[in-house]
Amino acid sequence: MQELIRRPRRLRTSPTLRRMVQETTLTPSDFVMPLFICHGEKISQPVGSMPGVNRVSIDVAVAECRELQQLGIPAVILFGIPAAKDPLGKEGYDDNGIIQQAVRAIKQAVPELLVITDVCLCEYTDHGHCGVIVDGDVHNDTTVELLVKEAISHARAGADIVAPSDMMDGRIGSIREGLDEAGFSQIPVMSYSVKYCSAFYGPFRDAADSTPQFGDRKTYQMDPANSREAIVEASLDVEEGADFLMVKPALPYLDIIASLKENFSLPLAAYHVSGEYAMIKAAGRNGWLDEAKAMEESLLSIKRAGADIIISYYAKEFAQRYQGK
Ligand code: PBG
Repeated sequence: MQELIRRPRRLRTSPTLRRMVQETTLTPSDFVMPLFICHGEKISQPVGSMPGVNRVSIDVAVAECRELQQLGIPAVILFGIPAAKDPLGKEGYDDNGIIQQAVRAIKQAVPELLVITDVCLCEYTDHGHCGVIVDGDVHNDTTVELLVKEAISHARAGADIVAPSDMMDGRIGSIREGLDEAGFSQIPVMSYSVKYCSAFYGPFRDAADSTPQFGDRKTYQMDPANSREAIVEASLDVEEGADFLMVKPALPYLDIIASLKENFSLPLAAYHVSGEYAMIKAAGRNGWLDEAKAMEESLLSIKRAGADIIISYYAKEFAQRYQGK
């Protein structure tokens, strides 16, 4: 016999005891479900690289939102697939654009469900970049002006929260000012504060058809090698009036989530992105790992690291399992 006073295994002897000492729990209310909305009717078009995720028309999205709300999910985040793309991403800030129409329909049908809108131009530009191109690069301040128009247009349609994902400098302050001047001082801004230039967005770009047609996003999204820079970005967002901070992607950046949690007091969201979802799906479908367990472990890790809110394509599946459906 070893003479051990401390035996941590004592607290692992039964499921009940393990549950009693469990430090982190997940419930459907931790989640936000992303939806891709397209024009048309009765459309539910599978996204090849994201099994289980579809591009849906507004009528289908409304039905989906009802279901999500009944499953206990508090919010959706909407991404738009426009009818046409152009260099300035005009449909993004058109009051009759796909997102504006979708927000109106969802808020009318399921008013209790929070609707968050992704504020960015990459889904709407023909070159696939997140803003206006001048001399081969995204021009910061011109882009910010359009993002302000987009955010106000989303708020006018009835969005509950706007979430800028473009990574332009100063956009949070400008959007805050624009919303306030337009009479939307009560609409919170969820900033994609710390958004890395990541390979894990690949499947999303399939879904939104938003792959940059030249170059990459390195002049605006962050270098995966950097962590102090995350503090700089988040500090600026706090100063500029953000109501939520976000880290994106999630699993490869758990250290960043933990660091933001320690350094800031605003609610913290983490985006478990398309590639993170696709990896687990693919391995699960191949029988290489247990998909449900890998999903839960991943999502739990994101919460344990410090996220208060998890944006994930697994939100619905998690909630269905949680509710025993
Ligand atoms: C728009 C945006 C992207 C994602 C969310 N908002 C794509 C990108 O930056 O290329 C990615 C989300 C995901 O991969 O699930 N800028």
